[in-house]
Amino acid sequence: MTLLQLLAQRAAAAFAAIGAPDAQPAVQPASRPEFGDYQINGVMAVAKAQKANPRELAARVLEHLDLAGIASKLEIAGPGFINVTLSDEFLAGRVLAGQQDVRLGAGVAHPETVVIDLSSPNLAKEMHVGHLRSTIIGDALARVFEFMGNKVIRQNHVGDWGTQFGMLTAYLFEQESSKPAEMALHDLETFYREAKGRFDEDPAFADTARDYVVRLQAGDTRVLALWERFREISLAHCAAVYQQLGVKLTEDDVMGESAYNDDLANVIADLKAKNLLTTSEGAQVVFLDEFRNKEGEPAAYIVQKQDGGYLYSTTDLAAVRYRNNVLHADRVLYVVDARQGLHFQQVFTVSRKAGFARPEMQMEHVAFGTMMGKDNKPFKTRSGGTVKLVELLDEAETRAFDLVTSKNADLPEAQRRKIAHAVGIGAVRYADLAKHRTSDYVFDWDSMLSFEGNTAPYLQYAYTRIASIFRQAGTVDASAALHLADPAEHALALTLAQFPEQLQQVAQETAPHFLCAYLYTLATRFSRFYDACPVLKSEGATRASRLRLCAATARTLQTGLSLLGIEVLEEM
Ligand code: ARG
Repeated sequence: MTLLQLLAQRAAAAFAAIGAPDAQPAVQPASRPEFGDYQINGVMAVAKAQKANPRELAARVLEHLDLAGIASKLEIAGPGFINVTLSDEFLAGRVLAGQQDVRLGAGVAHPETVVIDLSSPNLAKEMHVGHLRSTIIGDALARVFEFMGNKVIRQNHVGDWGTQFGMLTAYLFEQESSKPAEMALHDLETFYREAKGRFDEDPAFADTARDYVVRLQAGDTRVLALWERFREISLAHCAAVYQQLGVKLTEDDVMGESAYNDDLANVIADLKAKNLLTTSEGAQVVFLDEFRNKEGEPAAYIVQKQDGGYLYSTTDLAAVRYRNNVLHADRVLYVVDARQGLHFQQVFTVSRKAGFARPEMQMEHVAFGTMMGKDNKPFKTRSGGTVKLVELLDEAETRAFDLVTSKNADLPEAQRRKIAHAVGIGAVRYADLAKHRTSDYVFDWDSMLSFEGNTAPYLQYAYTRIASIFRQAGTVDASAALHLADPAEHALALTLAQFPEQLQQVAQETAPHFLCAYLYTLATRFSRFYDACPVLKSEGATRASRLRLCAATARTLQTGLSLLGIEVLEEM
């Protein structure tokens, strides 16, 4: 049980004891140190319902609030808040218990199967910045859910099917007569542009391309082989990006649109059997009362085109069924651009109506905003083109290398490269994760690579500083007792003990920025502790206790950063 849960449970019992069993006492971390460590709210609502004086009611709650061995001070504040200060012994015990556990106390009591739909680029083109956010946010969430003991199934729902693959395979066939496929597909963006040019200008090629679509769908071995070649090379481009980013995604996680191809006719048949389909202008649609257009008519959700072709929507319905029937998901998280919000609401609604998802399976669109340039417009190259991810990541490492060199020119180059990789990639990831995912965010090299403020380099450096303390400390007593005498020690221990509830919040709200904010608080509290409490210069039990606080901080920082996919370094 997290600290927050423990306090909420005790508070609920006290409310029940004063005759308000249904009250929902809200327990929150205190907003300022003078309010203690936590604040219990909810007295005012009960007072209103019972027509009682809130401060008197708060006093009655206090009489029944059993926090023996947990709190050292309870105080009524303002119109009826209850401020709780945790006892130093209790906090010390929580920190040490967390350190004994591989999950730092954050394991879940009931593990779930969590399917995460992430990254999911379209293989016809180069991966671009829009997929960067899905990849980074999805990877962080996957790591958090896994760390907490859940079963995580990553699903890279790549766009590897559809009419454009007729054009692309036809063009690959043409190109292959003069150069190997790897070379032809070296730059997918160029290849796509050229194929499109051929398609638009040469009617004979356009006919071939259309013929290839039909053959591809009919399973023609030659066209299928070209398609597989294309897919393989495009996936290799993605794998290179994942590798550089340190994202835990492999070929085994790829479950692209093509994988559902054989099931699409069944999806339509099943929708028909449930009487959900209507023919509208030759297309098959589901009318949804839940979504009305401007005229107040139910929205038509198209699942099969007039020519019999299937759509993105049909594939997503098949995917819901697979995630329910085969993967047995408890939760399905779709880490996809916010602009696809309506699509997912419709997929979820149709799936429920059709019984493709059992009622207990939660489906959530983990939406994110757009990555903006410094000009506050969607991030583009200077010439207005889409930014290739590989180039962006290379630039991050180059900039970090220059930065590291300017700070520490004496380090051997290989080591500076290693640091630059961790710092550069860490900065890109952290800048994305630190903002609430639904807001658009401005991609700005200078602020993300700063060693001050809520950035990856700041946190990485905080870790390195602690590592250097241990290099100077000599032998350390790993079983020393913790004494939290100084307020800075108390504040640091409190933050350490809050790691489980912070992770829980990340998982509940699918929002990694809570973990970033937490790690930043942890680093600043550590810094205050380190300023206020000498570590290496202190002696005996005090020194041993403070070193243990240092060790717990280092481990929590390292764990938290690794959940965000960010490496730490012993030296930088
Ligand atoms: N390939 C899509 C795109 O690039 C994203 C797919 C997201 N996942 C899904 N199940 N629809 O926009």
